[in-house]
Amino acid sequence: ASTLGSAAAAQGRYFGTAVAAYKLSDSVYSGILNREFNSVTPENEMKWDATEPTQGTFSYTSADTIVNRAITNGQKIRGHALAWHSQQPSWAQSLSGTTLRNAMVNHVTQVATHYKGKIDSWDVVNEAFADGSTGARRDSNLQRTGDDWIEVAFRTARAADPAAKLCYNDYNTDGVNAKSTAVYNMVVDFKARGVPIDCVGFQSHFNSASPLPSDYQSNLQRFANLGVDVQITELDIEGSGTAQANSYSTAVKACLAVTRCNGITVWGIRDSDSWRASGTPLLFDANGNPKQAYTAALTALGGS
Ligand code: G3I
Repeated sequence: ASTLGSAAAAQGRYFGTAVAAYKLSDSVYSGILNREFNSVTPENEMKWDATEPTQGTFSYTSADTIVNRAITNGQKIRGHALAWHSQQPSWAQSLSGTTLRNAMVNHVTQVATHYKGKIDSWDVVNEAFADGSTGARRDSNLQRTGDDWIEVAFRTARAADPAAKLCYNDYNTDGVNAKSTAVYNMVVDFKARGVPIDCVGFQSHFNSASPLPSDYQSNLQRFANLGVDVQITELDIEGSGTAQANSYSTAVKACLAVTRCNGITVWGIRDSDSWRASGTPLLFDANGNPKQAYTAALTALGGS
């Protein structure tokens, strides 16, 4: 296999990328997207502020563009994200209590219903745990509606789109630490109580301050052992040259070594597409040429 997507498919996995709707008219961008990737995640277009800018008025144009194009090209779609403390529309930011809870439930129902049958996996809840050593939930307006907001979001998503796999997604949970253990304990609890959860996403934004952890694979494995699929959902690795290529290779191999790690998504195509203001964290350079990191990822997937 000579592309990331086809090499991943030969391993029973997908290899995806975040996609920004406004870049699809760029032929270099869309050419790489069509050739290399068999899964897409809308980078911003499915978030609450994008899909419900005014309460009760839903706006799907940009997300639909990505979804319809992906379906035409036979690419899976990872929905991102139904309930999150960030990128909420201003009207939601000012709500609290039952009013906010009801608005969240309605949002999850409406968006998951609009895309019913089209989404492989939904990031139902994103980034709900605090950084650091407490293992606590992150404080947010959603969290202040009550600890059960996460399970309510999952049950609501299941009711709206029973075929979609429902994931919890977070960052700084890539290795074994207090935050990932808190997520782990939530999955244990959800499984014990029959709360629907199918997968856990590990964002995997790595840089020198937060490098690829040495226990990455064993952390993925401990979650898989709970009976959920795991995915690398927003991979990017700061750096360049051989060091960066080796890190990409290690990350890909960690996923392949875990039977239930069924997909990898990088958070953008070219370095110039990255959310990071500077740096070169992705697989293609600003001109769209594959980097050493690309060759390493492809080789790790068994392609050439
Ligand atoms: O849409 C407006 C546009 O109208 C305006 O002119 C422009 C001016 O700055 O801003 C545009 O919105 C920006 C948006 O990206 C679209 O480009 C926002 O300011 C900017 O904050 C937003 O950043 C996104 C970020 O999430 C917001 O939290 C990044 O693109 C996106 O890559 C990033 O993705 C997150 C994941 O969702 C969750 N995990 C972490 C990851 C990286 O931060």
